[in-house]
Amino acid sequence: MSTTELPARHAELMDGVYRWQRHIYDLTRKYYLLGRDRLISGLDVPAGGTMLELGCGTGRNIVLAARRYPDARFFGLDISAEMLETAMAAIAREGLSGRVKLARGDATDFDAKALFSVESFDRIFVSYSLSMIPGWEKTISAALAALSAGGSLHVVDFGQQEALPGWFRTLLRGWLRKFHVEPRESLRDVLESESERIGASLRFRTLYRGYAWLAVVGSRR
Ligand SMILES: C[S@@+](CC[C@H](N)C(=O)[O-])C[C@H]1O[C@@H](n2cnc3c(N)ncnc32)[C@H](O)[C@@H]1O
Repeated sequence: MSTTELPARHAELMDGVYRWQRHIYDLTRKYYLLGRDRLISGLDVPAGGTMLELGCGTGRNIVLAARRYPDARFFGLDISAEMLETAMAAIAREGLSGRVKLARGDATDFDAKALFSVESFDRIFVSYSLSMIPGWEKTISAALAALSAGGSLHVVDFGQQEALPGWFRTLLRGWLRKFHVEPRESLRDVLESESERIGASLRFRTLYRGYAWLAVVGSRR
């Protein structure tokens, strides 16, 4: 596993959040990090292709994607050493260590060549991490810069619960704040302007009455 320079306070905060949570993370999050499996089934990773997850956490998504796309190579980046420990164990348990490489790094500013010895990726995805990353907009531009020609960036995260009752939204927001999670109200706007900037297409979907948002930016470079 490789590491580059990190924003130390945020890295410490994430390690603090996940030091114990990581042991129950996959079990508990399956009930409320909705849309992740839909994202994985839409990745359509080309045979022999490469895929990077930014903020890979416990490796749950990479394991499922690696099973679904058996010819591809997978890369995962996370700022939390605690989460990466769980991810490495999961990947070894699944016998995927030969096809998966993990690195500790900051999703807003990473050097894929230094971390993974790979210049660019066919697919990059960010699942429920933008809502925890300070300066998350930079993660979107960094991901687009790391896409191969014709590649795509896939994002799933909390929406604004726009068609759900106000009380639900208030309860959810209060609870998410305890974990330093903040749904990004301007996610769609930022994806639109970034897609326009690089001449890419954008598909943006609202899931479960705005509980979650799912987006795909398809690069045409
Ligand atoms: C809610 S978890 C999502 C994990 C996984 N993507 C999933 O869908 O289960 C958010 C992850 O983002 C990571 N993270 C937060 N800020 C980050 C940053 N600046 N760079 C890389 N990873 C970061 C956290 O350590 C954590 O593992």
